[in-house]
Amino acid sequence: MSNHQTPTPSEGTPVNGALESLRIKQLEEQSAALRNSVICAFNQLLDLKDLNTGVHSTRLAEWGMRVGQELGLEESELQNLEVAALLHDIGKVGIPDAILRKPDRLDADEYTLMKKHSEYGWAVLRMLPGFERAALDILHHHESFDGKGYPAGLKNTEIPVVSRIVCVIDAFDAMVSSRPYRKGLPYAEAVRRLNEASGTQFDPAVVRTFLSFAHAEMSTVFAAAGTPVSSAL
Ligand SMILES: [Fe+2]
Repeated sequence: MSNHQTPTPSEGTPVNGALESLRIKQLEEQSAALRNSVICAFNQLLDLKDLNTGVHSTRLAEWGMRVGQELGLEESELQNLEVAALLHDIGKVGIPDAILRKPDRLDADEYTLMKKHSEYGWAVLRMLPGFERAALDILHHHESFDGKGYPAGLKNTEIPVVSRIVCVIDAFDAMVSSRPYRKGLPYAEAVRRLNEASGTQFDPAVVRTFLSFAHAEMSTVFAAAGTPVSSAL
């Protein structure tokens, strides 16, 4: 009888290493799927409150990601940017409809309450594992480059780069998008306003990067989002 025995897989063997890699890959896929499900679920919540359109969030995410890539953000930051671009206004779920839907200018008290939406969004998203950083980026998406924004009055690079990107893209998208009570601004006027507030409200590097491709890509992005280009130009 031979003493030779077939070795069983044990720690450190190539077989075990392959199994370990496969398991890690499966966990990463599960984690990514869960993350996407959470984003979709929150997006639906925004739709239920009529706070969002798929078009709006798609445009934001596409433009934001493009700016982030051009500015050299790392992959993890780009992932947070995608979440922040899609869900930056999730906190508006906590704002009364009378304020959200008011067609006239908000009074001081109403505006104070409206400004709470960035903190509300942070408070919700920070509880989800993996969304903590994006929650902070959302908390600061209304900071102003000169320090006059809210909630913390951060300025310049104190403001997270993802928040600075979302701020510019969101403002531009709001300017060119039509609402039931007003027509969107023409592209040229929106660009003029972005440039005017570059260095005060907006990060000049973000504005510059965004405008370097916005005009050429606008028709593509709008078409992909299902919006006629003519509505924005
Ligand atoms: Fe906001």
